[in-house]
Amino acid sequence: MERREFIKTTCAVCIGTTALASFIAACKSSKYISSFTEENKKIVIKKSEFVIVKRGKEKQLSHITLKPAGLQFPIAVYKTGNEYKALYTQCTHQGCELTAYDAALVCPCHGAEFNTRGNVTQGPAETDLKTFATTHDNENIYIQL
Ligand code: FES
Repeated sequence: MERREFIKTTCAVCIGTTALASFIAACKSSKYISSFTEENKKIVIKKSEFVIVKRGKEKQLSHITLKPAGLQFPIAVYKTGNEYKALYTQCTHQGCELTAYDAALVCPCHGAEFNTRGNVTQGPAETDLKTFATTHDNENIYIQL
C-alpha cells in the first residue's frame, strides 16, 4: 500500500468511527426505573429520576421508562422544559412495543415513528399514541392511569 492510499484509508476509518459514535450517542434508549409508587391508578415518580451523575457531573435525561403493574407495555415519560408527557409505548399500527429514544419512539415491527408528544411522524401507523394525564409539583410527577 502506498503512503497516499494508506492516509486516505486511515482518515476514512477515523471519520467513520467518529460518525458512528455520534450516531450511537444520539440513539441512546431509555433509563428504566423501578422506584415509583402506584396507588389508586395514580403513579408517583420522583423528579430526581431524570437526573443521572456521570463522571461527577449531573446530567438531565430527556425521558425515562417505567412498567406499571397491570399494563402490558411500559410508559415513556418525556420532559420538555418544565412539562412532562407520559406516552404508552404500544404501537397504534399492530400493537408492537415501541423503543423510546431521546427524540422519538420507534416501532421495531414495521418502522412507524412517533415524536415525543406521541404524534405519528412516520407510517404505517396512522393514529397518535395513547397518552396519560400528567401533573407535577416541586418534587414529584403524577401520572393518572
Ligand atoms: S406494529 Fe408498529 S409499525 Fe406495525
